[in-house]
Parts: sequence; structure tokens; C-alpha cells
Amino acid sequence: MLKGKRILLVVSGGIAAFKVPDLIRRLAERGVSVRCAMTKAAEQFVTPLTLAALSGEKVSADLFSLTDEAEMGHIELSRDADLVVVAPATANILARMAQGLADDMATTLLLATDKPVLVAPAMNVRMWHHPATQRNIEQLKADGVAFIGPNEGEMACGEYGPGRMAEPLEIVAAIEMQFGKPLPRHLTLVQPRPANNGVAPLKQDLKGKRAIVTSGPTHEPIDPVRYIANRSSGKQGHAIAAALAARGADVTLVTGPVSLPDPAGVKTVHVEAARDMFSACFLDLPVDIFVAAAAVADWRVAVEAPQKMKKSGDLPPVLKLAENPDILRAISTTDAKRRPALVVGFAAETENVVAHAQKKLGSKGCDWILANDVSEGTQTFGGDSNAVHLVTANAVEDWPRMSKSEVAARLAERIAAAFNDQSKKNLKKGS
Ligand code: PMT
Repeated sequence: MLKGKRILLVVSGGIAAFKVPDLIRRLAERGVSVRCAMTKAAEQFVTPLTLAALSGEKVSADLFSLTDEAEMGHIELSRDADLVVVAPATANILARMAQGLADDMATTLLLATDKPVLVAPAMNVRMWHHPATQRNIEQLKADGVAFIGPNEGEMACGEYGPGRMAEPLEIVAAIEMQFGKPLPRHLTLVQPRPANNGVAPLKQDLKGKRAIVTSGPTHEPIDPVRYIANRSSGKQGHAIAAALAARGADVTLVTGPVSLPDPAGVKTVHVEAARDMFSACFLDLPVDIFVAAAAVADWRVAVEAPQKMKKSGDLPPVLKLAENPDILRAISTTDAKRRPALVVGFAAETENVVAHAQKKLGSKGCDWILANDVSEGTQTFGGDSNAVHLVTANAVEDWPRMSKSEVAARLAERIAAAFNDQSKKNLKKGS
């Protein structure tokens, strides 16, 4: 996947720079050619000689070096790579990037590049939480920069919290993701907000609202190699997460295994089984909006076999099932302090679609349900379009068939309108 790729690695001056040699080794093992640029402060933590020896390339540090410029000018260097990675990225370099400063070789390269930029921050926990740093990070995300980490843990300074640089293999996984490979499930990558390509931006009428959206199938393990699953692609749920984010909401997408990229501007948490999805959703409460678009498996195997099950004798094994937690019902009926103001479920039905959805509205305790027909031939699972009915306590609205993105945009618009009504009572009525 990474073979033949070229990465410009910008190293800034933090203690986490000691992990950079390992990062270069891991990339080299994968056939990546790495060229390093360092800040003056970085040279206090790792020598240019070490990085040059490991990468097999000259290290750029001096903006005014005549020999460097003669070999490859800084503009050319900044564009020669397929991806620019800043690791570790200190609070200082983030601030300079956010301001567009070009006062040394590293920041000049970052300002001159037209390639995607991935940043692995590393700093003291208080520096990480400082409003100035958070402001700079928001600015960089809006500018199209992707972030991996920081991780939470013990710091070199003795404090505890977020600020540790992501591990080299986690950075490698985030790099692979930039080239199209899905991120391993336990990692979270915040993708840059999408450029609006000249299209008028949507009203930010969900700014200040937090949302969780579930999406995709769940995989319920039978043994280490087999699982129970369904045909959900995640297209509908991912589109809803993106549509809410496009109106300014702060969205966490909790997704089962899908082959879609993470939506831009959305914090995406990857899970496998229903129980993981349940925990990930509850961990993110309280929120204002919860949308359950995932096709969560109702059952799992009661006892997962620790080793691959073997054929033995004539009789096939009997799988005993146990019921999974119902995430939508649990969130709808959780205590008032944590219950989102608006809970929207889906109903996937093969017959009597609206009648079954109306029953589900009551049994799950949610405020709205989007009912869709998933019977054979509809291609609701996996397809690009959907025909839904918005079912609320006292009304049913039939929406015409449209693309899943249009369904998502219309739902986001309805949600924004309901919040603008300000009254939770109105939210429940679906007005
Ligand atoms: O992913 P796509 O290919 O784009 O397809 C979209 C979709 C068909 C998956 C989507 O539109 C949809 O209908 N999602 C809900 C699928 C489903 O599981 O429906 P259900 O009727 O079985 O469940 C009702 C609701 O309870 C759903 O909101 C579901 O997320 C939720 N649920 C169900 C079981 C469970 N254990 N926990 C839950 O939260």
C-alpha cells in the first residue's frame, strides 16, 4: 500500500522526537522514502545525522543554506512528497502553522506545500488544553490538516492526560489511511473539513450542538475467524453524520466495519460488535442529538469459541444465541440528565413498513423514526438511494426516493428546524 510513496517528515522540538527514528524505520520497512526537515529545537532531541542515516536522505534544517537550495529548492522539496507528516508537532509549530508563518525551513515547507498534511501533536497536557492551542487546531482542521492523536497517558514531565504523541505504528496506520486504507478500529483520526469548492456554505444552524450517529453493521464473533453480520454498507449513517457536521454540529460517528472513508470533519470511532458500539455511544454522552442508523445485530453467539471451531463427527455445531443490548432503546430511556433532546431511530422492515415503525417508536422510546423498506429488490441495504417515511408521535411523512445524501441533508434540515423551535416538546412532536 505504501510502497514507492514519498513522505516529507517535519520534526519539531519535543521529547517525542526520540520516536522519530522508529517511525522512519517502520516507513522504510514498507518501502516509503522519507525525507526529513527539522526545526532548530528538534536538533536538541534527535540529531540530523541519525535521521539522515536512517532515511538515507539529506536532512533539511537551514532555510538559508546555499548547498541545500542548489540541490533542491524548498518549494520543490515541499511539493516533491505525496504527503507531509509533522511528528512530533509541538504547540509552537501548530501555532506557527495556524498563523501561516514561514520563519524557518520547517514552517516554510509547510506553507509552500500543496500536498495533504497529517499532524501528530505532542505536548504537555495543559498546553494541549490551552484555548490558544485548541483554537489553532480548529483553524488547522478548517484549513484541511488531518490529526492523529495525541494519546492519553503519563508524560515525560510527570503529568497525566492527552498530549503523548501517537505511537509510530499508529502514525503509520494514519498515513496508510491517507492513501485509502481503513484505519484500525481502536484509532480515531479527525479528518479535515471538506473544502466547499465555491458552493455557498450551509447555514451553521447546528453549531454548538453535539450529535452521535451510529452507522454500518456490527460483526458478532463466533470464533476468532468467523462472525455473524448483515449487509449494511454504512452509506446512510455516514451521510447523516456528514450532513449534521456540514450544518456545524460536533459529530461523533460510531461505525461498525465498513469500507467507506471516514467523513470529513467528523470524529469517527470504529467498533466491531454491538456491545462495543453500545459502550462507545454511552461514553460520548451527553449529546443533543442521537441518530441510530446502524444495523445492529439483535443477537450474538452466547459463548464465543476461543479457538477456531473444528469440524468433528457428522453433526454440525449448534450456535446458541444471546440477545445484544438495544442501543437505541437504552439511549432513549436513559436518565433525563444524559438523554439527548432528540433521539432518532431507523426501522428496517420488509412488510407493513409504517405500521411496524409506529410500533417501534413506542417500544424503543425514541422521538422520531425513519422507516425504510429493506425487502428483496429494494437495495436499501448497500444501495445509493433510499425511500423513507418520517414517523413521529402524531404524523407520518412519506419522502420520495432520493439519494442517501439527500435523505441525510433533509433529515439534518429537519433536526435544525426542530432545535430552532427551542422546545423539546416540539422536538418530540416532530414539528
Ligand atoms: O448502511 P446502508 O447500506 O446505507 O443501509 C442503510 C440501513 C438500511 C442500514 C439504514 O437505513 C437502516 O434502516 N438502519 C437501521 C437498521 C436496523 O437495524 O433496523 P431495526 O429495525 O432492526 O432496528 C431499529 C432501530 O434500533 C435502528 O435504529 C437500530 O439502529 C436500533 N438498534 C437495533 C438493535 C440494537 N441492538 N440496537 C439498536 O440500537
